[in-house]
Amino acid sequence: MWGGRFSAGPDAIMEEINASVDFDQKLAAQDIAGSRAHAAMLHDQGILSSEDAASIDQGLSTILSEIESGTFSFSRALEDIHMNVESRLAELIGSSAGRLHTARSRNDQVALDFRMWVRDQTVAMQASLSRLIEVMLDRADEHADTIMPGFTHLQTAQPVTFGHHCLAYVEMLARDRSRMADAYERMNECPLGAAALAGTGFRIDRHATANALGFREPSRNSLDTVSDRDFALEFLAAASICGTHLSRLAEEIVIWSTPQFGFVRLSDKFSTGSSIMPQKKNPDAAELVRGKVGRMNGSLIGLLTVMKGLPLTYSKDMQEDKEGVFDAAETLELCLAAMTGMIADMEISRDAMRAAAGSGYSTATDLADWLVREAGLPFRDAHHATGHAVALAESKGCDLAELDLSDLQKINSAFTDDIFNVLTVEASVASRTSFGGTAPDNVRQQVRAWRERLKS
Ligand code: ARG
Repeated sequence: MWGGRFSAGPDAIMEEINASVDFDQKLAAQDIAGSRAHAAMLHDQGILSSEDAASIDQGLSTILSEIESGTFSFSRALEDIHMNVESRLAELIGSSAGRLHTARSRNDQVALDFRMWVRDQTVAMQASLSRLIEVMLDRADEHADTIMPGFTHLQTAQPVTFGHHCLAYVEMLARDRSRMADAYERMNECPLGAAALAGTGFRIDRHATANALGFREPSRNSLDTVSDRDFALEFLAAASICGTHLSRLAEEIVIWSTPQFGFVRLSDKFSTGSSIMPQKKNPDAAELVRGKVGRMNGSLIGLLTVMKGLPLTYSKDMQEDKEGVFDAAETLELCLAAMTGMIADMEISRDAMRAAAGSGYSTATDLADWLVREAGLPFRDAHHATGHAVALAESKGCDLAELDLSDLQKINSAFTDDIFNVLTVEASVASRTSFGGTAPDNVRQQVRAWRERLKS
């Protein structure tokens, strides 16, 4: 009647749709840590005898080693990690295993396990982000005065330094790191003891378990506690935003490493050849970082959609919260590591960057600024005069710096020889000393400031 793969009838289908142990076994360590803290608290509160507490703790520790050594056999018939652990505990210590679930439900248990897992990930991501930031700072320092074209609309706009460009990513990545840190603080409330949804009549000590499991405090509302997945959403949102930043950098690396740009050369470790075109060196790692943000965004939208419109409190829909988060965490970790490696190993072509920075009349704004500063012109008039100078250079097929002074004076009589001092790309970047500007001294100062900040 059911056909296809479900030859065993409706029970098999129920098991297929219901079981989560294939993926939630990732939460085993958290599940066991939570159970041990819970059992210890029950004992301290006089709810569990010393003998029961001791054998439960012993049994749980055995189960943890079985899982870690890969000898534990997970059963889909037992649905999830929680029931798998509890059932094995009963095999190991007998009926006192059944006392562990006093004053607890799988609803607060899963909220606890998952929250602890995500909490660990926010810490891991901060560490990985710090590593990438450090590599970026090294490159920024090394290239504080390497000149490259700055772009708007991907059209040459004004010369900037490569160091300044690196520091732009340091700012983004540091925000990503602080988003992870913020999310950590908000999620650092212990769900254990909310029980099924209403709390419990047993005289439990939620502050004790919160403390034992490294939480700042217990959560305040049992209904919210078992139905909240904001911590997972915030982690996914932070991961997606970070992935977005990485994808922008990845895209720049793809562009910069084309023979047409030639700004950077990827190391062999982070590029591949073509099986048919021997001349090619493909930026696969960068392309994959760019592409993988798609699955992180998918996980975020997926969980937002699962949670949308769910009535309080727990509904089984919420079992769909885990796989996307697991995948996003693994993906982000991998992307951060790949980007760190690529940036550290990438060769920068100062010459290609310098040549491109000087093309496209990139110092036109400097010419206009000179007219404002030295000849007192309103900026709009200076902009107009500069437009004429660019048109003239274009018609002569030369750079602004190659125009004759007499030609420039025909456009505006205020021009003097001094104008040629501001038309080089070096003079241009050196002049951008406003706070946050691209001048090499600014870049070095920002690198120092970031290194100090990272230490604290
Ligand atoms: N496997 C479930 C989940 O991941 C655990 C909680 C089940 N609770 C329940 N009342 N069925 O959400």
